[in-house]
Amino acid sequence: MNTFADAAGIAGRQFETPVLLKEGTRLLEPDVYRTLVKGRVAVVKDYSRYRRTPLAPLARLLVRREARALGRLRDWAHAPMLLGIVGGLALAMEFVPGEPLGAQRRVSEDTFRQLRGALAHLHANGITHNDLHPANVMVSGDRVVLLDFASALRVPRWMRNAPVVRELRRSDLANALKIEQRLTGRAPGEFVSQVLADPRWVTAVRDGWKRFYRGFKATFGG
Ligand SMILES: Nc1ncnc2c1ncn2[C@@H]1O[C@H](COP(=O)(O)OP(=O)(O)OP(=O)(O)O)[C@@H](O)[C@H]1O
Ligand SMILES: [Mg+2]
Repeated sequence: MNTFADAAGIAGRQFETPVLLKEGTRLLEPDVYRTLVKGRVAVVKDYSRYRRTPLAPLARLLVRREARALGRLRDWAHAPMLLGIVGGLALAMEFVPGEPLGAQRRVSEDTFRQLRGALAHLHANGITHNDLHPANVMVSGDRVVLLDFASALRVPRWMRNAPVVRELRRSDLANALKIEQRLTGRAPGEFVSQVLADPRWVTAVRDGWKRFYRGFKATFGG
């Protein structure tokens, strides 16, 4: 748990004892903890356990990708503020106090409205989140914050109408609608049902990816 502070070379000075929020157990999953960075409460996504392993370059890439995504969304209320990369394998960001979506007894309509609005803003800027589920949406008072931009993708303007990019947007929207449906119990209307239905080619690609991932995991362990 000291790896982040060690990498920064400032252990014991600017850090409090880290509080583990989520332990990385699966392949290329970071340890996520809350700590103090330069006097402010921060969250650190830490891949240091991959240091000096064959997966270190991939872990660095994940850190850089998420940092780049958060950097692009700086000053946007619906993403945590990026604090920086430390030692190549850890990413520090603003700690968003609150509860993940669904942990509250009643989720307000405004929360869903903000979630849809946030997604529309991302998509209008050529970004897809690609990992939208309740644990990656933090409700902090009146503020809804999307977390976990490790899988996010930004495509240049000329690619934004490519079928695969349209599918990523559809899939983000489908995930948001599924969350809303699950938490409200509302039956989907015709438009929503259409959005929720996976095109056949998507199912084929997804199955192919799952097979690849299982093979990758069997080779490298996890
Ligand atoms: N900025 C933040 N503020 C508050 N809590 C956070 C923050 N970032 C992450 N968390 C908490 O830590 C949990 C795990 O973080 P995150 O979703 O980014 O990691 P992950 O799912 O393990 O990562 P990945 O999908 O990149 O492997 C979140 O579900 C949330 O509860
Ligand atoms: Mg997550």
